[in-house]
Amino acid sequence: MRTVFDPAAMRGSAFYRLLTASVVPRPIAWVSTRSRDGVLNLAPYSFFTVASSKPPILQFTSLGHKDSWRNITDTGEFVVNIGTESLIDVMNASSAEFAPDEDEFAETGLTPRESTVVSVPGVAEAPISFECVRHLILEVGNGSVVMGRVVSVSVRDDVLAGDGLPDFARLAPPSRLGRSEWGLPPDTVERVRP
Ligand SMILES: Cc1cc2nc3c(=O)[nH]c(=O)nc-3n(C[C@H](O)[C@H](O)[C@H](O)COP(=O)(O)O)c2cc1C
Repeated sequence: MRTVFDPAAMRGSAFYRLLTASVVPRPIAWVSTRSRDGVLNLAPYSFFTVASSKPPILQFTSLGHKDSWRNITDTGEFVVNIGTESLIDVMNASSAEFAPDEDEFAETGLTPRESTVVSVPGVAEAPISFECVRHLILEVGNGSVVMGRVVSVSVRDDVLAGDGLPDFARLAPPSRLGRSEWGLPPDTVERVRP
C-alpha cells in the first residue's frame, strides 16, 4: 500500500510539510550578508545546493523576499558558511525574525570573521566559508533562487583530512529534516562509481 498526495488538494502548509519531511537531509547554507546601511545579517537556508561547478556557483532559495535576499540584491555579496554540530542552537537562533537594523552576529553572540575577497564577513565559528558574489537571482513560484559565484573558500585546518579535503566526521555538518527536526551526521559508506 502507498498513500498518494495531491499537492493541489492540500490546504495551508500541508504540502510544504510533506515536501520538507521527504526531501531529506538538506544541507544548510548559513548565509551572512550586510545591508546597504552596514548592518550584518545571518540566517540558515536549507533549500541549498551547488548550481554549477565551473564556474563554481552555489544557490539557495529565499521563500519570499527576506533580509538576506534584500541585502544580496542591494550589495551583490554574501558568504555561505557551513556549520557544525555544536552550532545547531545558534544556527537555529539566527533564523529568528530580527528587525532589519539588528546585527544578527551580535544578537546571537557570533564572531564576524573578515573575508578574503568580499566585504561581507563570514562566521568565525563555522569551519567552512564560501565567499560569493551575486550571479543571478531567479524568481520561481514563491521562491527567489539566489545564485552566487564562489570567489574564495576558507576551511579551518582541523576539519581537513590528510588528502586536503574536508572530512565528514570532523566537519559534522547538521542538516535540516521535516517538522522541527535536524539531522546529525550519519555514518558514511564508500562506493567507487562504476
Ligand atoms: C535550519 C533552517 C533552514 C531554513 N531554510 C530556509 C530556506 O531554505 N528558505 C527560507 O526562505 N527560509 C528558511 N528558513 C527560515 C529563515 O532562516 C528565516 O525566515 C530567517 O528569519 C530569514 O532571515 P533573513 O530575513 O535575515 O534573511 C530556515 C530556517 C532554519 C532554522
